[in-house]
Amino acid sequence: MNHVLTAAVAGCGSRGQDTYAKIIMTMPEKVKIVAAADINPEKLAGMRKLTGIPESACYASAEEMLAQPKLADIMLICTPDRCHYLQAKEALLKDYDLLLEKPIAPFADQCVELRDIALARGRKVAVCHVLRYTPFYQKIRQLLESGVIGRTVSIQAIEQVCYWHQAHSFVRGNWRSEGLSSCMILQKCCHDMDIFLWLTGKRCRRVSSFGGLSLFRPENAPEGSAERCVDCAAAESCPYNAVRFYLDEYRRAGDDWPQNVVAFEPTEEKLMAALKDGPYGRCVYRCDNDVVDHQAVNLELEDGATVNFTMTAFTAHGGRVLRVGGTMGELYCDMKANIIKVMPYGKPDEIIDVRKLADDFSGHGGGDARLLREFIDLARGEIGVSGTMTSIDRSVESHLVALAAEESRKNGGCAVEL
Ligand SMILES: NC(=O)c1ccc[n+]([C@@H]2O[C@H](COP(=O)([O-])OP(=O)(O)OC[C@H]3O[C@@H](n4cnc5c(N)ncnc54)[C@H](O)[C@@H]3O)[C@@H](O)[C@H]2O)c1
Repeated sequence: MNHVLTAAVAGCGSRGQDTYAKIIMTMPEKVKIVAAADINPEKLAGMRKLTGIPESACYASAEEMLAQPKLADIMLICTPDRCHYLQAKEALLKDYDLLLEKPIAPFADQCVELRDIALARGRKVAVCHVLRYTPFYQKIRQLLESGVIGRTVSIQAIEQVCYWHQAHSFVRGNWRSEGLSSCMILQKCCHDMDIFLWLTGKRCRRVSSFGGLSLFRPENAPEGSAERCVDCAAAESCPYNAVRFYLDEYRRAGDDWPQNVVAFEPTEEKLMAALKDGPYGRCVYRCDNDVVDHQAVNLELEDGATVNFTMTAFTAHGGRVLRVGGTMGELYCDMKANIIKVMPYGKPDEIIDVRKLADDFSGHGGGDARLLREFIDLARGEIGVSGTMTSIDRSVESHLVALAAEESRKNGGCAVEL
């Protein structure tokens, strides 16, 4: 394809603007942003500054942008979770190819409907399962395919959300309640469910799950604590002190994530104002949150292999850890350290330092940029769907597994057949 692909961006926040639009600006020979929509005028102004699009190409909502005739070849849907279904449906009916942020939609019937519309209209839809595109998981998949550990029989995996990330996104932030987004095992861990199915190449037969919201409840608030950290007598000893999270972090690290979520283009004054009035200054024990802070999930795959997965807030650091047990050997994989230990039975161990396999690990271990670039090449007709690409028909399965886990959790852990 010789012509430059045109892109419209719905939702100009952390993903739409700070991640994808910035990457798009590095590949002008392939793709150009020609329209953008956000309900927040500050974010739209930021997008205009970044991309140079005229005011006439900016819309006050994705719905307003979608009410226009088709404006571009592709649309990036990077709005909050609850917006995806209707916006993606409308965009597919207008024949946009889509980069669709996860989750596809909060409910199974909506996910399946979007998949069916995309297939019926022959649209390309990449769901942003960015982990597949990391050198880390690509190497694990390559090792499993090489047969070095034989047939995979059991996987143990932990998603270490980390205490402060839980407080930021899932207690104070946009993903704090199922009604605002979806259950935590879908919104946060559809990535993990997708990775298990992709790594093993297997389908899931049965799921069971336990978990709950253990800590971030009013009854756990410390003596003398206040509604907001800025007024709180207990703040000094509280690990969830928002002043330490955001203001001190801004002084140390500058206007990076998550400070730039608390205040757009943050300054000390903007952050202080946000801590006094905004959601991120609230006491973690007094928020309107209801998503779980720990959840364990068991999967039984179609060949009887099993996966035990735990998502937990209660870790000092973030990152994913995975142990894959095969008939001929074992893999121990630590994403944060970017290390894979290959342990064939009866033979010497080998340590693979994934950092030596690639140079870009920014944005989800390098996954954000690789996913976007591959989608652009796919939409330009330069490549077909690869073994990595998370087309919607494949992504739906991870969502159905996650939703089955939630059904099990809410029903006392009884197994749910898929
Ligand atoms: N793939 C991943 O690993 C990954 C990581 C983080 C977030 N996400 C997903 O990406 C999506 C966006 O997350 P984010 O972190 O960028 O959130 P964000 O809040 O930073 O950005 C969302 C933007 O959408 C705007 N918006 C809200 N309603 C809108 C509407 N009707 N029309 C147009 N704009 C609207 C908001 O003003 C905001 O600027 C979410 O669905 C989230 O779950 C995916």
